[in-house]
Amino acid sequence: MSETTPVTFPPAFLWGAATSAYQIEGAVREDGRTPSIWDTFSHTPGRTAGGETGDIAVDHYHRYREDVALMARLGLNAYRFSVSWPRVQPTGRGPAVQRGLDFYRRLVDELLAHGIRPAVTLYHWDLPQELEDAGGWPERETAYRFAEYAHIVGEALGDRVEQWITLNEPWCSAFLGYASGVHAPGRTDPAAALRAAHHLNLAHGLGTTALRAVMPARNTVTISLNSTAVRPLSQRPADLAAARRIDDLANGVFHGPLLHGAYPESLFTATAPLTDWSHVRDGDLAAVHQPLDALGLNYYTPSLVSAADSDAPGPRADGHGASAHSPWPGADDVAFHQAPGERTEMGWTIDPTGLHELIMRYTREAPGLPLYITENGAACDDKPDPDGRVHDPERIAYLHGHLSAVRRAIGDGADVRGYYLWSLMDNFEWAYGYDKRFGAVYVDYGTLERTPKSSARWYGEAARTGVLPA
Ligand code: NOJ
Repeated sequence: MSETTPVTFPPAFLWGAATSAYQIEGAVREDGRTPSIWDTFSHTPGRTAGGETGDIAVDHYHRYREDVALMARLGLNAYRFSVSWPRVQPTGRGPAVQRGLDFYRRLVDELLAHGIRPAVTLYHWDLPQELEDAGGWPERETAYRFAEYAHIVGEALGDRVEQWITLNEPWCSAFLGYASGVHAPGRTDPAAALRAAHHLNLAHGLGTTALRAVMPARNTVTISLNSTAVRPLSQRPADLAAARRIDDLANGVFHGPLLHGAYPESLFTATAPLTDWSHVRDGDLAAVHQPLDALGLNYYTPSLVSAADSDAPGPRADGHGASAHSPWPGADDVAFHQAPGERTEMGWTIDPTGLHELIMRYTREAPGLPLYITENGAACDDKPDPDGRVHDPERIAYLHGHLSAVRRAIGDGADVRGYYLWSLMDNFEWAYGYDKRFGAVYVDYGTLERTPKSSARWYGEAARTGVLPA
């Protein structure tokens, strides 16, 4: 497609925005909610930038009506949000708290009344602290607890929410949470991280079964993976081997069991010094390998890797935050490099070709499975002008580039059904606190006033017309 050809999407394409509970809700002590691992982590000195927490966040718990009205005004037709597990099941087990569930019932009703299709993520990283105290994701029991929680939420919302996502980016939960420790619960035990990865897979499988048992058959169940476009720094055999190793740890550890019912043999070999994988029990892989209704893909930037002995510049951090501990168990001999090109405020190289590459990979690996881009977006240095308007041409360029890559993939035969911009509004960016702004809507953290940035208007026009504005 040339620069001047309009980039047009299929009429049924979903144009959404995404958020997650801990990043936006606030109200952490209301209506029976108890602490999650992120409450504990963010309140632990030194864990987040400036000691920032999600205590108030953007107060969406009280302002959800305003936020839904804003989405409707912009013209979005889909919204992906997550349910806070400790709001619904404060101890991570036992009966549900109705007041917690009622919030999500009200939110969903509000969305439907505005013609916006809800997509629910069950787990976006806020494990009830009591479950972490009992061992967290490295323990098998947590997967059973998740299935119970999925059953509760599926029963409460299954009549009005059609799109379900079990887990958001289980790679981050396992490897940033339990290996590098830059995310909650902040543990640095690579063997525990590998166990966590399996139990997250198991949770997805058991949770899917639990959801399907209580929901109408028309509903769809999927998972959002931060699959990584891994690129070798050179064609040297050592660099190619490093790329394969990271591909196993970033992608294969989830794609393998989810799409093919088996972990890659090469993953077992590379991690043999850390674990014998005896935590994978008979029947687990069949439980994980449920037919999916769709696949969710979160994409931000590719990864450029080499063998650590490479004489090229680097190694550097891999974009997942500073830690003395690697999030890549068994890959200490791999180095990460800054991919060339412009970067966002996260320091992540902007490269839409990685998104096209991943969509085509999924299309080959899981033929016939509909795809959704469940997250994509950029952190920019947004500041209001003196007149109060917020201009973010860099974000518009980022969105234009990535949506064009999605459209190109559709042209190449991929079945991409929708796109969720990360994020609807500025919010708590985990260990980075509030400094990194991903929103299409600007939030003044003093007043909590919301102001659509120019990208929100640009994206809204795309949503309303199905054509990317020039
Ligand atoms: C992925 C995560 O799902 C989301 O919570 C986070 O804010 C964005 N990436 C940006 O880092």
